[in-house]
Amino acid sequence: MAEAQGNIDSKDFGLGIPQNNQGYYLKGSAHLEWGMKDRLARVFSPATGKTVMLAFDHGYIMGPTSGLERMDLTIVPLLAHADCLMCTRGALRQIVPPTFTKPISLRFSAGSTVLTELNDECVMDIEEAVRLNASMLAVMVGVGSKHEALTVRNLTATVDAGSRHGIPVLGVTAVGKELVRDARYLAMASRVCAENGAHVVKTYYCDEGFEKVAATCPVPIVIAGGKKLPELDALKMARNAIDQGACGVDMGRNIFQADNPIAMIQAVKAVVHDNESAEKGLELYNTLKNEKE
Ligand code: R5P
Repeated sequence: MAEAQGNIDSKDFGLGIPQNNQGYYLKGSAHLEWGMKDRLARVFSPATGKTVMLAFDHGYIMGPTSGLERMDLTIVPLLAHADCLMCTRGALRQIVPPTFTKPISLRFSAGSTVLTELNDECVMDIEEAVRLNASMLAVMVGVGSKHEALTVRNLTATVDAGSRHGIPVLGVTAVGKELVRDARYLAMASRVCAENGAHVVKTYYCDEGFEKVAATCPVPIVIAGGKKLPELDALKMARNAIDQGACGVDMGRNIFQADNPIAMIQAVKAVVHDNESAEKGLELYNTLKNEKE
């Protein structure tokens, strides 16, 4: 118990040594509050500044997507290898053990499915995100879509709610059938998310001009993988995105639809965190895949 008297006199004042004013390693995040920074540091490795998020929230708009029919069988074995999970509250409660201590990027907006018109969404209660111990809240933003204003309002409302609890927000740039995924559009959509308060932006890689998308987005960008590609092509996309300024991937189908998802997520991590080339990543993929067969 602390006593008022008889304590050793204070003596280590570090006189002459300026106090260390710690900076912060993620762009656009230096002025955030401690709780926000702590949560972001769970998502983005402080050692590399990067992340490999495993996205398996597809069912909320697509139903039982290939590779996600039985998430208890296909996703649970991948959990140990992911830096962060991007999932719905349903999947979280149904298949992710509460003993899993890594960060959750919670799918926070929902509404329409692929059978109707995407982006007609609302957002959840912030109390639910707090109950679920979310480290980040993911909100769809349909810039240029019919529901553009609604989705931007969803984003700003989520940023307001998240700010009250120190939970950062991931703006997810939605790309509808009618919109072209070129650098001009992706830069605009990403910037709209950041300007409206998103702490992180998820967008797509594009072959021409992605470095401009990353440069003009003042917060960290992660890329979605998109439709399943041959493994080498997916690794090349990750390599190029990182080289051009992305801070990681939020990848789903190119991991859980790979021939060997456990090998693939490790190959993606080698590219993102260890700076390996796509070709080295593929070598690792094949080695791990053959070990398991
Ligand atoms: C997008 O909003 C989806 O919900 C997925 O999280 C995202 O597309 C990432 O998955 P994939 O790498 O399969 O595109």
